[in-house]
Amino acid sequence: MFAPHRREKATLTLFIVKAMSSAPFDFAPLLPAGLPPPAARWNGRVKFDFTGGNNDPDRLPLDGLIAAADAVLRREGHTLSTYGLNSGPQGYRALRDFLVAKLKADAGIACAADDILITSGSLQAIDLVNGALLARGDTVVIEQDCYQGSINRLSRLGVTPVGIPLDGDGMRVDALAAVLDDLKRKGVRPKYIYTIPTVQNPTGTILPVERRREMLRLSAAHGVPVFEDDCYCDLVWSGKRPPALYAMSERGGVIHIGSFSKSIAPALRVGFIVAPWDVMSRMLALKTDAGSGALEQMVLAEYCTANFFKHVPMLRQGLRAKLETLMESLTEHFGPAAEFDDPKGGIFLWVKLPDGVDALKLYQSALAAGVAINPGPEWSVNKSHARSRLRLCFASPSHEEINQGVAALADICRREFGVPAPSTNIDHAR
Ligand SMILES: Cc1ncc(COP(=O)(O)O)c(C=O)c1O
Repeated sequence: MFAPHRREKATLTLFIVKAMSSAPFDFAPLLPAGLPPPAARWNGRVKFDFTGGNNDPDRLPLDGLIAAADAVLRREGHTLSTYGLNSGPQGYRALRDFLVAKLKADAGIACAADDILITSGSLQAIDLVNGALLARGDTVVIEQDCYQGSINRLSRLGVTPVGIPLDGDGMRVDALAAVLDDLKRKGVRPKYIYTIPTVQNPTGTILPVERRREMLRLSAAHGVPVFEDDCYCDLVWSGKRPPALYAMSERGGVIHIGSFSKSIAPALRVGFIVAPWDVMSRMLALKTDAGSGALEQMVLAEYCTANFFKHVPMLRQGLRAKLETLMESLTEHFGPAAEFDDPKGGIFLWVKLPDGVDALKLYQSALAAGVAINPGPEWSVNKSHARSRLRLCFASPSHEEINQGVAALADICRREFGVPAPSTNIDHAR
């Protein structure tokens, strides 16, 4: 048997130590159970991107934001030396004051600055509401087709979402009544009714006042609060939104969240919660990040106080024009194979393709060809209902990209699923 000499032994040891130190550190054994699957690396944006809640780059009020940043920093930039800008843990006071005025003016909400908590995007608001109310095994009621970010959070928390079907006027309150009765019979008290009542994601519907009233009546009768996610409320084409559920509630059983992502810019990461103190104080105790980004709050307060109500109609006008392009393009390239309702506002079109189309497969093939779409099943708790549906965001691509992207998508869909039919063209326009 070969026995290494002392010098050979030393060389071998050095080799092993070197090999060990050059091997990448293995984190795998340290990861706790229950982590979500690893995230994919970002490979850059694709050529035709119809995904995400991105905004229109051409309607970003850049000059106004630059001027606002300059003014607010010169005037009170020294407050950046304190956590919370001398405004306390609920966020920059001037931004909350703007929201008090804005919510009163358009949503009919009468609240004080201390009823508002500024968050890092409304995603953090959703996390805080969930953190305060939900435990593994709970049940919540949500719109059947719904925001993926909310659906994913529920599954990660081990909470069961019961989906309520929608029609052209948003959540069907007759179905809501039936579900609440059924859950009651089973001894289940859902923790909340989650709704995006004003320009629903993904359907673009608006819940009329009568349905809001009925939802609040059911909420009170069953002792289930309403969780109102109003992040698209500024993007109603007509400019006139119904009063918020929070404003209509007489018993304080509504938690309202909103965002500046859709009205100004998503990268700023500024959202907010309006809630009664009983539950606000529990959410505030869970917000342990020492405050959301201060500069964004300062710039937004400065810009919005003077300009918000001038900016938003211009943004809506640009978005509406892009929606027209998208609907025309779908009609041109898909003909009757693409069914959709003209949404009442927002940045998404919810499209139904023929039953044979598997949207998840279409998503994969389209992505490989440089066209990104959101497949319906990821935006619904009823996977079979959403199997042949797509969500298309029209805010971020240019008009030209919308046209070219839809043409490319139609080609891929035809190749994979035989629809739209080869002859489908402008003459089939609806
Ligand atoms: C319904 C809904 N809620 C919340 C969010 C989160 O938005 P943000 O965290 O940017 O405010 C989105 C984003 O698309 C959304 O569609």
